[in-house]
Amino acid sequence: MTHDLGRILHYIGVSTMTATAPQQKITYTSTNVDLSAFHRSFDEALAEVRATAGRSYPLYIGGKAHEVTRLDPIVDLSPIDTSMVLGTFISANKEDVDLAVRNAKAAQKAWAAKQWKERITILRKAAELIRERKFLLSAIMAYEVGKNRFEAMGDTEESADLIDYYCQQVEDHNGFIHPMTNLTPIERNVELLRPYGVFVCIAPFNFPLALSTGMSSAALMTGNAVVYKPAEDTPWTGLKLYEIYRDAGVPAGVFNFITGHGREIGDSLWQHPMTDGVVFTGSKAVGMRIFHGLSDKWVKPCLMELGGKNATIVMDSADLDAAAEGVMRSAFGLQNQKCSATSRVYVHRKVAKEFTEKLIAKTKDIKMGDVTQKDVWFGPVINPRAVERWEKAVEQAKKEGKILQGGTRLKGEGFERGHFVAPTIAELPLDSSLFLDELFAPFLAIAPVESLDQALAEANKVEYGLTAGFFSKKQDEIDRFFDEIEAGVTYVNKRSGATTGAWPGAQAFCGWKGSGGSGKGGCGPWYVQQFVREQSRTVISG
Ligand code: UN1
Repeated sequence: MTHDLGRILHYIGVSTMTATAPQQKITYTSTNVDLSAFHRSFDEALAEVRATAGRSYPLYIGGKAHEVTRLDPIVDLSPIDTSMVLGTFISANKEDVDLAVRNAKAAQKAWAAKQWKERITILRKAAELIRERKFLLSAIMAYEVGKNRFEAMGDTEESADLIDYYCQQVEDHNGFIHPMTNLTPIERNVELLRPYGVFVCIAPFNFPLALSTGMSSAALMTGNAVVYKPAEDTPWTGLKLYEIYRDAGVPAGVFNFITGHGREIGDSLWQHPMTDGVVFTGSKAVGMRIFHGLSDKWVKPCLMELGGKNATIVMDSADLDAAAEGVMRSAFGLQNQKCSATSRVYVHRKVAKEFTEKLIAKTKDIKMGDVTQKDVWFGPVINPRAVERWEKAVEQAKKEGKILQGGTRLKGEGFERGHFVAPTIAELPLDSSLFLDELFAPFLAIAPVESLDQALAEANKVEYGLTAGFFSKKQDEIDRFFDEIEAGVTYVNKRSGATTGAWPGAQAFCGWKGSGGSGKGGCGPWYVQQFVREQSRTVISG
C-alpha cells in the first residue's frame, strides 16, 4: 500500500504545518515542525544508531563504570529485526544492587543539602541536553521499542517537558519552603517539604525515556538520590538518561544505573533496608507485590502507575468518523502498548454497524512494518511474550466471538525477523474475559450496548481505572460520563486519540482503582510533592 506523506501524517494525528512557530515540537497529537528537516535529521540519527549498535555496557554506580562479569547478560535486540543486537548489558545481581543503594545513600545528604535552586539549575540543564540530543534518543527508541518516528520524538520531547514542568512546580512553591503563622511574638514557624532519601525507580519499556525521566527527575530535584533500573527490553535508552544527568551535573552517586532481570533483582531493589521509597510503572501484579511488601518497618512512599483496560464509549449522537479515528489511533498506536491505549469499545447499538465499518476501514489503511521508515505507523510488539499473549487472545476470540479484522501474524517481506502481529478487532459477548484482562498487544474488543447506563456499567466493571474515552454530542451524556466513569484520565470527542496522548501540564496521568497507587498523576500539578515529606520548624527566640 502506498501512502502520501499528508495521508500518513493524518493517521498519526499530525497536521502538515510548516515551521513558523518559534519552538518546534512534536507531541503525541500535534506538531509544528518542518517535516523534511525532521526526516533528514532522523535518518542521520538512525545511521548513527546502526553504526554504534552492538557494544557492551557496564552498570554505573557511584559515578563509576561498574564492570563485572555476570551470568545471563541482557542482549538488547530490536523487535523490528531480532538479528540486530543493539547492545549487551550486565545482568546485575544482589551485590550490585546493594552497592548501588549504599552509594545512593552516601551521596544523598550532600545533594539534599544544596540550595534547591542549584538542583533546579542542574535538572533544567538535563532538559536542555535532552532537547539537544533528541534525534539520537528518538532513533534509539525507534529501534529499541519499535516506535514510529513521531511516537519516538513525542517520547523525547515529553521527557524534556516533564523536567521543566516539574521544576516549575518547585519554583512556584519557593522550593517547598512555606512560612507559617506565629502564635506568639517570640516564635518563627516555617514548613518545609524535604526528601525521603533513596528512591528506587523501576521503569517500563513502552515510554522508556519519558516515564524514566518523569519519575527520576521529580525524585532528584527534591533532593532524593536514585537507583534506576530501566526495563529489560530498553536498557540503551536508560543508559542515555544516565549520561544526560551526568552531563548536566548530577553529582556522582546521586543517580545510579542498574540493568538486570526483574525476576533476579526487582525484589532486592525495593526490599533493601536503605531504600526509602519506590516509584514504579508496570503491571498491576508486580505493583501490588511491591506495595504489600515495602512497608514492613514503617510506611514508605510507593508511587505506582499500573495497568489499564481502557474503554471508549461511542453514543448514537457521536461524530462516527471522529470516533472511529480516535479509537483506531488509541487502540493501535504503539501497537496498543500504552497504558492509556483503548482496548475495549462499547458502541450504541443504533450506530454499531456504521461505526464498526468505519473503524475497520481505518484499520485496514494502517501502514505496517519497519517503523524506522518515515511512512510506517504500526510496528512490532516488544517481545515473544507479547506475541504469545496476543495469539492466546485471538484463539479465545475465535471461540467466543468473531474476529472482524486482523487475527493473523504478519508474514512476508519486512516481517520475517520481527515480532509482528496484525492490528486486530474482535466482536465479543460482554461476559468475555477479553473485556477484563490487560493484554498490552494490538487487540481491540468491541460490543454493542443498548444505553449509556449499560455502557458505563460495562466500562466500570474492570479492576482498572486509568483512561477512558467518550464520543457524544449531548451535553447531559457528557456530564454523566465525567461524573460516573471510574477513570483518572478522561477525554470526550478526541479524534487524535480517544484515550491517549496525555502531556505534561495538559493532562495529569492518574490511575484509579487497580491502575495506580497514589491518587496524584505524573504530568500533573501535584506529582512532585509525593517525593518529599513535611517538616515543621519552630524556633523560639529571646
Ligand atoms: C503509559 O503508557 O504508561 O497519555 C503512560 C499517553 C501517554 C501515556 C504514557 N502519555 O498516551
